[in-house]
Amino acid sequence: MRLDKFLCEMNRGSRSEVRALIRRGLVTVNGLPAKEADCRIDENADTVCVGGQPLSYRRCFYYMLNKPEGFICATQDKISATVMELLAPKDRRPDLFPAGRLDKDTEGFLLLTNDGELAHKLLSPKRHVDKTYLVSISHSLSEEEIRRLEQGVDIGEDRLTMPARVLPAEAENQLLLTIQEGKFHQVKRMLKAVGNEVTALKRISFGPLTLDEALQPGEYRELTEEEVKILYEA
Ligand code: URA
Repeated sequence: MRLDKFLCEMNRGSRSEVRALIRRGLVTVNGLPAKEADCRIDENADTVCVGGQPLSYRRCFYYMLNKPEGFICATQDKISATVMELLAPKDRRPDLFPAGRLDKDTEGFLLLTNDGELAHKLLSPKRHVDKTYLVSISHSLSEEEIRRLEQGVDIGEDRLTMPARVLPAEAENQLLLTIQEGKFHQVKRMLKAVGNEVTALKRISFGPLTLDEALQPGEYRELTEEEVKILYEA
């Protein structure tokens, strides 16, 4: 890979900024100052340092965000604040995106990544990845309404929703709903189909991973290597 491309991918600045770093002699490759921005390096074997700090190469980045209300799941928007704005400047990269969508007023687990392959796997409707929501509702559900949610309800698509799991939550007007689809406003439409209304929604798990309870709304952390592996196996 070209040295300037490597430095850009490692978030050390734009093409022109990293070239300036090289010109100023701040970049070394295996201990020797780099002279040309277009010199080739082996990103997996060579040691590249900027200002004496070694950079280890990573292609993919994964963040678990506890999405707060009021932010939209997009990379940019002219009107609303996007979830990408919650990242600290040091973690921002032009290739990061939210893997999936939560409504503006939904909170909870959102994966931000630049790994298109993993996102595709997790979001493909064929894969039936579990998503669990803590759903606050306007009034508690009857046994019959729970049964209907579990078996599938008519939300105005060409077929009923896939079987879902409903579990009680701590509060009376709350439930834990696990679905494997991700249709637009799906949870809200499912509850509406049984004559109820969602008053608050929080995603607490995505595939095999559960939202880290230490994360306050708006906070995020990197996934561990083990968590990434588990997601790939989901
Ligand atoms: N279902 C919804 O209705 N909204 C979300 O944000 C996610 C699932």
